[in-house]
Amino acid sequence: MKKYLVIGNPVEHSLSPLLHNFWIKKYGVNAIYEKKSLEKNDIEKTLNDIRESKTEGINVTVPFKRQVIPFLDHLSDTAQKTHSVNTIFKRQNKLVGDNTDVYGFSQAIKLTNFNLKNKKALILGAGGVVPSIILALKNMGILEIVLSNRTKAKAEDLEKSFPFLKVINWGETIKSDLIINATSIGIKKNEEIKLDYSKLDGQLFYDVIYNPTETKFLEKAKKIGKKIENGKSMFIYQALKAFEIWHGIRPEINTEVTDLIK
Ligand code: ATR
Repeated sequence: MKKYLVIGNPVEHSLSPLLHNFWIKKYGVNAIYEKKSLEKNDIEKTLNDIRESKTEGINVTVPFKRQVIPFLDHLSDTAQKTHSVNTIFKRQNKLVGDNTDVYGFSQAIKLTNFNLKNKKALILGAGGVVPSIILALKNMGILEIVLSNRTKAKAEDLEKSFPFLKVINWGETIKSDLIINATSIGIKKNEEIKLDYSKLDGQLFYDVIYNPTETKFLEKAKKIGKKIENGKSMFIYQALKAFEIWHGIRPEINTEVTDLIK
């Protein structure tokens, strides 16, 4: 039986095993998908288990998406551009790092039918998932991306990889068509981002968080009549792409799948 893993710290709450094991069973794949909490020093050994075929594939979550890179032999184009790896496998005896978050986010936006042409996005946050969001938006033809993060130095770091970014101060607002919460504010139900919503003028408010289903950020946007979307489909589609890479099967997305992720 082939073994797959999601590594992170913390990783207890990851829903990847639930989703992958559902598809493994549905499509009759002889495999098991588990989660493993790691310390930084364990990364190399855990990845080397793929070289020795003790593990077939690994998903990577916070805080290791960048930290795994030195231990890989080859990066996909998206992994290279984002410095972020969430899916690892072996090809021709080489350890390959890929990034399926870019695909996940693109699919999520496409499903909302929001047309990005000539639009402006405001991204709040500069954490692990943000480079993937930036690349996806750029690939989809967005006109402008503005970024704001509490720790401005992290936003400016992203500017080095994506020179077209415009960085504004945390707490500042700017008129944008699409506003994305990529901070962890809202995971605890009562936390909220202090924003002057009236100044944002956005049409679509997107939150990377999907549990709770509606963060305060989405709740408030909904109240003033805006279109909202949480991070559930991004999560499902990044998993779908990883499953397809590993097993050569593209899982069907139906309500049975979407109901699994709560
Ligand atoms: P990581 O930074 O390790 O990748 P993350 O969960 O992906 O972790 O990112 C957390 C994001 O939420 C960061 O942008 C963080 O801002 P800082 O870079 O300033 O830490 C942001 N964040 C978390 N709590 C916040 C808060 N109370 N106020 C403002 N931003 C917050």
